[in-house]
Amino acid sequence: MLSFWQSSVGKKAAMGLTGLIVVGFVLVHMAGNLQFFVGPSKFNEYSHLLRHTLIELTWIVRLVLLAAIAVHITAAWQLTQRAKAARPVGYERRDAQVSTYASRAMRWGGVYLLVFIVYHILHFTTGTLHPAYDEAQAYGNVVIGFSSLWVSLFYLGAMALLSLHLYHGTWACLRSLGLAKPSSNPLERRIALIVAIVVPAGFSLLPLSVLLGIVR
Ligand code: HEM
Repeated sequence: MLSFWQSSVGKKAAMGLTGLIVVGFVLVHMAGNLQFFVGPSKFNEYSHLLRHTLIELTWIVRLVLLAAIAVHITAAWQLTQRAKAARPVGYERRDAQVSTYASRAMRWGGVYLLVFIVYHILHFTTGTLHPAYDEAQAYGNVVIGFSSLWVSLFYLGAMALLSLHLYHGTWACLRSLGLAKPSSNPLERRIALIVAIVVPAGFSLLPLSVLLGIVR
């Protein structure tokens, strides 16, 4: 296991597996968030379920996510250092030939998403960076939180980057884990496209509905 982790292929496989764990989480989190549109009591009940009734499960998910993100970032950092060491002198001119914009935005986009996740937890989970946090009022916390234009824009920016990260990441995960078959119209590209549209669009409905005054 250790020698597999020390190889670059092993680090890519670890990034693939941990990336898939986070893709699974964002799909479930986004679907759960749509209960916001059922109304305050349903959304508050859902939050209560996660924070009290199913607290053991919530802690398991938290620890698995934390470990997955730590391994994902460590492997990304180490692979970047290896790539730099393999070519210590930069290119004079670099024209992208086959890479997509999404693939080139993985590193800085990943850093933005990390900052977003830390802010997001201090905003909606602990309430530290929320102007009027009430643990029992998850619905009200979201409405008040997104009443700030800057906060909503920060979230929407993160969702745009999440879309790019998911588009390249979902495709790359499936390939790194050897789950992709050779094809001129690969299935994993279509799966990645659907995930990259559906997840950020579903999440963005919350800040957008508050900003546009549809939800108060
Ligand atoms: C517009 C986008 C999003 C909205 C509106 C949103 C909303 C929320 C809310 C309301 C909570 C607190 C739930 C509660 O009452 O316990 C929460 C928790 C959380 N969200 Fe999000 N979320 C968004 C995007 C994301 C993304 C992209 C991630 C990426 C991984 C994420 C990860 C988390 C995590 C890890 C928690 C903490 C769970 C816990 O430890 O209790 N969220 N989110």
